Amino acid sequence: MPIKLKTRKRAVQIEVRQSGVHGRGVYTTQFIPKGMRIIEYTGERVSWEAAPDKANDPHTFNFGLENGDVINPEIGGNDARWINHSCNPNCEAIEEDDRIFIYAMRNIQAGEELLYDYRMEIDEPITEAAKKKFACHCGASNCRGTMLEL
Ligand SMILES: C[S@@+](CC[C@H](N)C(=O)[O-])C[C@H]1O[C@@H](n2cnc3c(N)ncnc32)[C@H](O)[C@@H]1O
Ligand SMILES: [Zn+2]
Repeated sequence: MPIKLKTRKRAVQIEVRQSGVHGRGVYTTQFIPKGMRIIEYTGERVSWEAAPDKANDPHTFNFGLENGDVINPEIGGNDARWINHSCNPNCEAIEEDDRIFIYAMRNIQAGEELLYDYRMEIDEPITEAAKKKFACHCGASNCRGTMLEL
């Protein structure tokens, strides 16, 4: 007897489209209550040393895990890789059992862009030039001017 597996509808309806912050971004098409898990940041798990060095590719980010590995969304990545940064975010990235999930930090209305604070780390001193290289255009009143964690 032939069998097939079935997916479930994604819990939260989101879409990737042109963003006012930068390039493409992720928007919710439904109301998301505070605390709801929205999407997992998926990708290939590799050690930080083995991670592809894409310092000059602004589209690809390795997400650091507490065990020192990183998640590289180039392989097996999903829509979470398109989420932009804000200094006044409505989402946060939380690590659970070596996985990263994006959660709503507050109630989010349908049509809002999903944004979290990248808290970017670099292994060089945070100079004015470095801040500028990772300049933030989130437009928040408390924008720190850079996506780096200061
Ligand atoms: C993971 S991508 C997010 C998707 C991106 N918008 C795109 O179209 O490729 C991360 C890159 O988006 C840009 N970005 C995200 N948030 C930004 C912000 N608040 N200000 C400036 N650039 C931002 C930066 O170039 C960053 O390196
Ligand atoms: Zn900002």
